[in-house]
Amino acid sequence: MARVRLQGISKIFDTVQAVDNVNIEVEEGEFFSLLGPSGCGKTTTLRMLAGFETPSAGKIFFNEKDMTNTKPQNRNVGMVFQNYALFAHLSVSENVAFGLKARKVEKSDIAPRVSNALREVDLAGYENRAVSALSGGQQQRVALARALVIEPQILLLDEPLSNLDAKLRVETRERIRALQKKLGITTFYVTHDQEEALTQSDRMAVFFTGKCVQIGTPREVFNQPNSRQVMAFLGRANFLQARALEHGVVQLTENVKVRVRRNGLEPGTEVTIAFRPHDVELFAQEPHFQGKICKLTYTGAYEEVVLQVGEMQIEAISPIQNTSQKLKIGEAIPIRLPLEKLIVF
Ligand SMILES: Nc1ncnc2c1ncn2[C@@H]1O[C@H](COP(=O)(O)OP(=O)(O)OP(=O)(O)O)[C@@H](O)[C@H]1O
Ligand SMILES: [Mg+2]
Repeated sequence: MARVRLQGISKIFDTVQAVDNVNIEVEEGEFFSLLGPSGCGKTTTLRMLAGFETPSAGKIFFNEKDMTNTKPQNRNVGMVFQNYALFAHLSVSENVAFGLKARKVEKSDIAPRVSNALREVDLAGYENRAVSALSGGQQQRVALARALVIEPQILLLDEPLSNLDAKLRVETRERIRALQKKLGITTFYVTHDQEEALTQSDRMAVFFTGKCVQIGTPREVFNQPNSRQVMAFLGRANFLQARALEHGVVQLTENVKVRVRRNGLEPGTEVTIAFRPHDVELFAQEPHFQGKICKLTYTGAYEEVVLQVGEMQIEAISPIQNTSQKLKIGEAIPIRLPLEKLIVF
């Protein structure tokens, strides 16, 4: 297993800066996600780790060994591609055996290793099936077996669940995580789905337009986003314009003031106050202000509530089982914004 370091990695294609001075260190055995919107450079970063692209600048180290110019077949890296890239004309076992043949593994070792890898992904018995006769989820597992069979030091997964339905996505991601833990492989997991990154990762990096803008544990990145952009990408959020008063108090509208944890704001400074809908306390005992319910959306597990407060609208959520407090359009209810949940940008 390997520690991995990306040091000042950039990639320029003609006029496109796909990856821009990225610095990431990943520990041995860590599950590390790269999260960001389409086109932000996730696949390009993985391809540089695999050796399919050469960085325009920067270096890549595995266990302090400079691998920047090492050929893909000499890196001991397994990759599951965004579209799986299976060989449609080959059987399941031929697909899985491919990397072993390319590495000139002894013929007699190939069949047991292929069977073993297929067993790991619950596909024992599918050896001779044509890949084209498999479901999307089964193809995904063949791709995973093909990556694992070479016993890689590093596993690269590029949006491995994007072709699966919602239920299979959850099942498969849990399978991948369990297998990764059992084998202890250092893993890079690319996704544009924040829930996948938050639930799977030991740590994660958020990318925008080729830049790595924040690195941390899921809790750190979700609860302490370092920019408005990161906060919005990771989930629903309220962003309210406010003006700093004295002693850590900000004014949201004419009659609404709240305390924030940021001291030393120059009075009069315009700031943005951000918080998640689930952190808004409805029917608060010690309210900061009243909000008039102007929209309710039932989602099954909870109710989404939009509140009008002066000129502002605030999004909140209320668990459905909380039936003691009836929500009604047009009603004004007491609201609290907990100090520790308010982020100032
Ligand atoms: N071979 C290439 N030649 C030119 N431009 C490229 C090439 N590969 C990628 N790009 C560009 O680099 C940028 C980053 O692409 P990349 O595939 O890394 O994004 P991504 O984050 O994986 O996106 P997605 O979520 O859509 O897969 C994009 O603007 C893309 O058009
Ligand atoms: Mg991609």
